[in-house]
Amino acid sequence: MTHKITLTQFIIEQQRDLADVSGTFTLLLTNIVMACKQIAHQVNRGNLIGVLGSADTENIQGEVQKKLDIISHDIMVRALNWTGQLAGMASEEADEIIDIPLQYPKGKYLVLFDPLDGSSNIDINLSVGSIFSILRCDAAAEPTVADFLRKGSEQVCAGFVIYGPATMLVLTTGHGVNGFTLDQAIGEFILTHPSITIPEATQEFAINMSNYRHWEAPVRRYVDECLQGKEGVRGKDFNMRWIASMVAEVYRILMRGGVFLYPYDLRDPSKPGRLRLLYEANPMALIIEQAGGACSTGRKRMLDVQPESLHQRVPVMLGSKQEVERLIHYHQMS
Ligand code: F6P
Repeated sequence: MTHKITLTQFIIEQQRDLADVSGTFTLLLTNIVMACKQIAHQVNRGNLIGVLGSADTENIQGEVQKKLDIISHDIMVRALNWTGQLAGMASEEADEIIDIPLQYPKGKYLVLFDPLDGSSNIDINLSVGSIFSILRCDAAAEPTVADFLRKGSEQVCAGFVIYGPATMLVLTTGHGVNGFTLDQAIGEFILTHPSITIPEATQEFAINMSNYRHWEAPVRRYVDECLQGKEGVRGKDFNMRWIASMVAEVYRILMRGGVFLYPYDLRDPSKPGRLRLLYEANPMALIIEQAGGACSTGRKRMLDVQPESLHQRVPVMLGSKQEVERLIHYHQMS
């Protein structure tokens, strides 16, 4: 029988090779993953347990929350607030940072998460996921919002779990990217996709084309050229995908290359993009870069953006390096 490497074995072995780590991080990750398994269970049972549909409430972004957005947020908070590994948390579904209750000890990490990304897909049985980002916290006292507003390059770990036909975890601690599949029979994530690498070139792009009329010139130019196919300046035909679930798009790009764009658009000039810097763009940027790809706002490397607020939005362009570099070039020229 071939030996299967579980996530726990993988993390302990990886951490052993690093100088400045203790078991705390491994425990924290184990607890995050435990929360994701619980969310997977809820997503999987869906209407059997009455968790689909709208909760008829709005989050701070003014988006109508799904029941499962709230359930997933609560699962994350309850799985992590007692552990003693965290100084605080922030969630896409909570207006303010989440303090650790007074009765529990505090630790040296901060976790930021989007408990259920792509939740507009939940009622139509398409893939959704949870995204998380871990920062070290040096605050001597209770952490404040300022402690969370750190550049993506400072993340010590980022990952996401995709609840699709298989439940999969994609993880980086800054030493490459690895993929694990949940073996439902034993309840463990097993290493199935070691050292994931994104091909530098691609012929596949993902964007919500219905926003075309709102985009800036560099993005229109890029997409126009892709659509021209073999006869155009790119000299090759492109394929297009749009799942409207970032975890699913990023997973596809990790597996076979491609580029994903949610650019700035002129619909609402007060919103500099749709996706959230701290809960979506930064963790995905670390994963994509660690897999050999690139992630930019079009004008700046994502991991170098200085966050200004907890729920800040940013334009996102990520995936195969050559395509992201082309997009950056088009932005520089405009
Ligand atoms: O809020 C995040 C998200 O659901 C992403 O997962 C996805 O890429 C995007 O929004 C879809 O947006 P739209 O519905 O505008 O295509």
